[in-house]
Amino acid sequence: LFEPLKPSINFNFQSISNMNQTKIISHLWGKVNPLFIESYQAHQGYEIFNQCLKGQLKPAAILKIIQESGLRGRGGAGFSTGEKWRIAFEASRQSKKSPIFIVNADESQPGTFKDRLMVERNPHQVLEGALLAAATLGAKTVYIYINGKHWEALKIMRNAIKQAEEKILKPDSRKSSSRKAPSQIKVVQGAGGYLYGEESTLINSLAGRRGEPRLRPPFPAQKGLFGRATVVNNVETVANIVPILALGVKKYRKSGTRKSPGTKLFSVTGAVKNPDVYELPLGVTVKEVIDTAGGLEKGKKIEWVRAGGSGRLLGPRELDRRLTYACGPKEASAGLGNIFVLDKETPIEDIILSFAQFYARESCGKCTPCREGNHQLLQIAKRLKQGKLLEKDWENMRALVEVLEKTSFCRLGRFSADIWREFIRKYRALFFKSRKPLV
Ligand SMILES: Cc1cc2nc3c(=O)[nH]c(=O)nc-3n(C[C@H](O)[C@H](O)[C@H](O)COP(=O)(O)O)c2cc1C
Ligand code: SF4
Repeated sequence: LFEPLKPSINFNFQSISNMNQTKIISHLWGKVNPLFIESYQAHQGYEIFNQCLKGQLKPAAILKIIQESGLRGRGGAGFSTGEKWRIAFEASRQSKKSPIFIVNADESQPGTFKDRLMVERNPHQVLEGALLAAATLGAKTVYIYINGKHWEALKIMRNAIKQAEEKILKPDSRKSSSRKAPSQIKVVQGAGGYLYGEESTLINSLAGRRGEPRLRPPFPAQKGLFGRATVVNNVETVANIVPILALGVKKYRKSGTRKSPGTKLFSVTGAVKNPDVYELPLGVTVKEVIDTAGGLEKGKKIEWVRAGGSGRLLGPRELDRRLTYACGPKEASAGLGNIFVLDKETPIEDIILSFAQFYARESCGKCTPCREGNHQLLQIAKRLKQGKLLEKDWENMRALVEVLEKTSFCRLGRFSADIWREFIRKYRALFFKSRKPLV
């Protein structure tokens, strides 16, 4: 059905061991001018979508390629993209209502900035991926939901859509290929809170409702925005679509692991020499990512590394874990791809307080364990910082974390419980040391 294009771009597959980046998604960063569609077109931009408009590349073929590529969502959970598209496609057929495609560019987790850079540096690759996804699903509406504080990304994407509307989706071509091109592409300025990246909250926000999560099932792919089957995909997931179609499945799967193929954008922050976004194959170790970022700043030693945005705080001896979405015993979740390196000199009380402030602020307040629990945990973190912990704080803290973990309505509450569990596991002595003596 489809012969992969011969890429003019030199896709740069390199072995993990030489520490260089493997650029598949970010290969045009710095090479294209994000403000001009011609600059993207000079690198075969929109050729694949044009093939699709002309009927040379069938939606069924795209779905098959994405399924076989093994692409897993880069928004954190690593759910199969092909499977999500298939579920939405079937649900829309059954309901006889066209589905909706949403690009999730909310990105509010601390230390994550790869989606923003993807939009700012090559918006047309994201847009072409979204148009191909919409054509595959038969979606008539595409939303690009961008964090309200990312002004540049908002401006750049609006400009890119205007240019694509004029040059690619000309009124004529829309008419003749009305089944393939969406009739509406909208950039939506999100509210800028962490929870708005969670897909059901994002859908509520688009529908003009309160920014809080929905009960699932039904999952958005079955029944989402305005009751229609809705696919929400992360920016980076969408940015993978054009390279996968250009390279073909076999070449694409040469990078990454069998269960987690492809590359990943890692946002590296903290005590490293060169904090930035790096593209590396999935299966890379945490240490290799840190080395790519230039290693540690002079004289600094690692206290722990938070990889993927949640889960275990990895000590210096655990950095050989491989970052994937499969999560075996020697692996760590790649998640959204943030790698935060904490050094021994930074006071841990400040870090605990900062996490506690974040979760207390970002809790939407819908459920009591998270609303009240995070507020109480913040009070404990403040007392820890002041060296005035109360006798009961240790037990209370453990109980609050357990309730948070078991009864929170959504994953935000469980993410908070995760990090607190790790603080409890690692810093028991610290919590006891700063307890106020009994009088
Ligand atoms: C609290 C919370 C915040 C989230 N924030 C984001 C986000 O900023 N960007 C994102 O793509 N996914 C985020 N997600 C995951 C989305 O709910 C959803 O799984 C994802 O957008 C699906 O895209 P993917 O299949 O391409 O990974 C978040 C989830 C939770 C629970
Ligand atoms: S866990 Fe927190 S963020 Fe999620 S619904 Fe409950 S209050 Fe809102």
